[in-house]
Amino acid sequence: MRALLLREVGRPPELADLELEGPREGEVRLRIEASGVCRSDLSVATGVLRSPVPVVLGHEAAGVVLEVGPGVTAPRPGDRVVVSLSPACGECTFCREGCANFCTEMIPGMVRSVLRDGSTRLRKDGQPVHHQCGVASLAEEAVVDARCCVPVPDEVPLSRACLLGCGVLTGYGAAVHAAELGPGRSVAVLGCGGVGLAAVQGARLAGAEPIVAVDLDPGRLEVARELGATHAVQAGGDVRTAIRRIAPLGVHAAIEAIGRTDTIALAFELLRPGGVAVAVGMPSARETVPIRVGGLFQERRLGGCVYGGGNPLEDLRVLLGLAARGELRLDPMVGFELPLEDAPRAFENLRRGVGLRQVVLPGGAR
Ligand code: APR
Ligand code: ZN
Ligand code: ZN
Repeated sequence: MRALLLREVGRPPELADLELEGPREGEVRLRIEASGVCRSDLSVATGVLRSPVPVVLGHEAAGVVLEVGPGVTAPRPGDRVVVSLSPACGECTFCREGCANFCTEMIPGMVRSVLRDGSTRLRKDGQPVHHQCGVASLAEEAVVDARCCVPVPDEVPLSRACLLGCGVLTGYGAAVHAAELGPGRSVAVLGCGGVGLAAVQGARLAGAEPIVAVDLDPGRLEVARELGATHAVQAGGDVRTAIRRIAPLGVHAAIEAIGRTDTIALAFELLRPGGVAVAVGMPSARETVPIRVGGLFQERRLGGCVYGGGNPLEDLRVLLGLAARGELRLDPMVGFELPLEDAPRAFENLRRGVGLRQVVLPGGAR
């Protein structure tokens, strides 16, 4: 089976032939139909985010179930599914407290890049290979946790459904959950990549206004407007003053979807008293962000938001329904579709900031 393998951090990932063992208890084997390329994939390759290596990259996946392991009653072979990064087990402390986005069952995949039982199904020349986020979807096939599979309605093509698995859920959830958006609330979205554009759509669906999109790239601001931004501000100049012209008291919420410490600090500065800044973008976890203490005493808040901040399985069902009805618009978010052979080029594009969300179709365009 062919897959995109990162042998060493700091080196470009490359296509390789790997062995994939069948699913064990509680697992399914998928034919990957589509895998979005997320900035976090690049961040693992460059070492900004940590993962053991060698690792097969890719975590924004949709596919068709080929085979189910022992004990699996759902999904069934032939089902079209999108893969959640959280199984939302319902039993761990976090799930019982209503924080399924921290489900402890995510830890093997997210931290150690292994499956639920701590081992891997991937091998290269007999040696174990890790599964990024427990998904490893820049590949022809993948073995994943059955609980992470959410059925996709027929109206939603898998080449678009894949985006929901990470970027769209993350951005949408940041807007509707963490940023507490609703009618009468204003928001600035910093960064209009896959995550930021999903936040813009979440803001629109929540009824927020104004929705101010901020990006360095005028083309991305154009797409943000198409997806619901009421105003666009080009970064590079004085963003704070530009936003005060639109929201003189500051915004109720600012969502950082870039992954830089200076723009996380800027998000906090853009708030009105009582506002909330939501850091979604992920700089290296070792960085720090300077915050003006005076802002805290105006009850400004700064928090992170991981994987949408809600129940990922419930949010994925909601998002699939919105996509099926055309209320969540996925086509404008996609830049290029590429075959698996071109996945290394997708990483190069991402590094250079070329194009919007890229979708790898391991079976070619269908
Ligand atoms: N000011 C404003 N916009 C910026 C700046 C800046 N200083 N620097 C970069 N941008 C814009 C880029 O032009 C791009 O449109 O931020 C956007 C980032 O988008 P992507 O590279 O597509 O990243 P995305 O996949 O959306 O992820 C964003 O969220 O999940 C995390 O790890 C991920 O940190 C990353 C962030
Ligand atoms: Zn749990
Ligand atoms: Zn991602």
